[in-house]
Amino acid sequence: NYYAILMAGGVGSRFWPVSKEAFPKQFHDMLGTGETLFQRTFNRLGKVIPKENIFILTNERYNDLVLEQLPEVSERQVVLEPAMRNTAPCILYASLKVQKENPDAMMIVAPSDHWIEDEEAFTENVQQAFDFCTKNDALMTLGIQPTFPNTGYGYIEFDKAPNKAIKVVNQFREKPDYQTAKQFIEQGNFLWNAGIFMWSAKSVIKAFQNNQPELFKLFEKGTEVYNTSQEQKFIDENYKLAENISVDYAIMESSKNVYVIPANFDWSDLGTWGSLYDKLEKDSNNNAVVNAKTLTDDASGNMIRTSKEKVVVIDGLNDYIVVDDNEVLLIFPKAKEQDIKKVLQQVKDKF
Ligand code: GDD
Ligand code: MG
Repeated sequence: NYYAILMAGGVGSRFWPVSKEAFPKQFHDMLGTGETLFQRTFNRLGKVIPKENIFILTNERYNDLVLEQLPEVSERQVVLEPAMRNTAPCILYASLKVQKENPDAMMIVAPSDHWIEDEEAFTENVQQAFDFCTKNDALMTLGIQPTFPNTGYGYIEFDKAPNKAIKVVNQFREKPDYQTAKQFIEQGNFLWNAGIFMWSAKSVIKAFQNNQPELFKLFEKGTEVYNTSQEQKFIDENYKLAENISVDYAIMESSKNVYVIPANFDWSDLGTWGSLYDKLEKDSNNNAVVNAKTLTDDASGNMIRTSKEKVVVIDGLNDYIVVDDNEVLLIFPKAKEQDIKKVLQQVKDKF
């Protein structure tokens, strides 16, 4: 009864120039391990979920990338979206398909671009969640101990009272402003949302029905044709009509039956070059290097990446991002990495 929804439709623009619309970060070997983040996630999920029950949700423009990187998946497992509408529409659509295939399905919904090293601990937490969600009408999240007021995450306030492994959630707040995030962290009973969800197909569909009636109606209309030859026509006509909204805003903030398991594994969403630097092994000068052969004199704390093997010589430069990618060479201070999104826009406007 176990299914996975692997979301691989985002763009990851802070990893420009490597990650771009035509070739987003999940389809790159960001860690220099020989596997892309997408392949790593598929294999990690494959330890808990039968591989034939892992559905890949992505924009239709990434179909070729998916098939190239995972030749073992069947056509049934690749669900293509004709428009970018964020995560809520694709999760609802996939959940309805899965439920039609198996009315008792238990699902894990996971992003394709995160870093999780301890697969055993991950598997344990997922199993724990499934046990709970089989017996309860629950929307389960995985919580990460916050370290600073990051405004790019969802925050989960859990009930302190019972000292249990699975905690009742009082409040789910997606991307609060800085002051609020700071307050949350000071309060102590808040966790970051890892963006990984577990629930029964029944529970998540019910949550959409209660909290997003319009979106629900739009996709429910297609149930009759899902998993048949008429499905594509329905989706081509209707998908673009869906509201552009993330699952966090769509159902997590407004649902009353949210729970959290504090994750017992190390996690990073690899959101920026700096977070990638943190997770990579460093050379003797504390530089993180992917693909390049380097000569670094008086240069430390740099994140260095070339798209192919290439000799890079750096002298007198510290704490920079040095990324070479075919048409673009980026040399940018790590401390200003959040501005890469803006720079990308300027580059698009200018060249
Ligand atoms: N199929 C599909 N279609 N996937 C998508 C789409 C889409 O339209 N949009 C985004 N995704 C994928 C991304 O590739 C990523 O793997 C995942 O869905 C989450 O989307 P993000 O855009 O990365 O979300 P976020 O980082 O802003 O926020 C989410 O993740 C945080 C943790 O990393 C939220 O769940 C936060 O609450 C959470 O803290
Ligand atoms: Mg993200």
